[in-house]
Amino acid sequence: MIINILTIFPEMFGSVFSTSILGRARETGLLDIRLTDIRPFSRSKHKNTDDYPFGGGAGMVMMAQPIMDAMASVSAAMPGARRIYLGPRGRKLSTPLARELAAEKELILLCGHYEGVDQRALDACIDEEISIGDYILTGGELAAMVLTDCVARFIPGVLGSEESPEEESFSDGLLEYPQYTRPRELDGRAVPEVLLSGNHALIRSWRRRESLAATARFRPDLLESAALDDSDRKILKELKTCFSES
Ligand SMILES: C[S@@+](CC[C@H](N)C(=O)[O-])C[C@H]1O[C@@H](n2cnc3c(N)ncnc32)[C@H](O)[C@@H]1O
Repeated sequence: MIINILTIFPEMFGSVFSTSILGRARETGLLDIRLTDIRPFSRSKHKNTDDYPFGGGAGMVMMAQPIMDAMASVSAAMPGARRIYLGPRGRKLSTPLARELAAEKELILLCGHYEGVDQRALDACIDEEISIGDYILTGGELAAMVLTDCVARFIPGVLGSEESPEEESFSDGLLEYPQYTRPRELDGRAVPEVLLSGNHALIRSWRRRESLAATARFRPDLLESAALDDSDRKILKELKTCFSES
């Protein structure tokens, strides 16, 4: 997959995209991340990319011209790419959306800054706006990193062969069960016995129960749309009784 990121701060991305799983995905060619600096596309004498807002108000607005020219240049090489603006008004990033984006061959991400972007640039060259949550960041760069990271996990081969994005929290509508590693005991705290049993059926059912318990405790709202079977519902009923007794 090719992801081309349009930004006025390309230097922000270095270590995030060259470390760990993303770094490996780039080295193996599964992910080709390109950074396009918007500033050189400015036609103003001093290569300005922002100006005062019409109508007054605090802060600066990113000018449409440098963005539209940068987008035209990038789009010429990636004519089929989905063009996304990272912004707080957009559709909220989620596991289903990340899965959907991972199926694309090419994405172009536009990062805003300051008070935002001249609306005409968004009208002219953006297909959709995506938000990473109901809060305001100083710029779209961090949001572009979050989106790239979470989309990359769904590209086949990006995670190690034994890891699966389908076993993480939210993938089946539930939160994940607790994880443990060595040592077996630490300061009097032992790893649950079942995980040492080698009995995979027992481990699977323990994990399902813990997953249901974590979801019921931390995000009960998720249970309304999670795919549950009769045995899950029975466990939830038992858990409810435990919760109300404790
Ligand atoms: C300070 S924000 C602008 C906020 C804008 N004035 C508003 O109130 O909606 C600057 C840039 O950060 C990015 N940004 C801020 N919050 C975001 C979020 N929740 N998701 C994605 N991008 C965000 C956008 O690209 C935005 O143009």
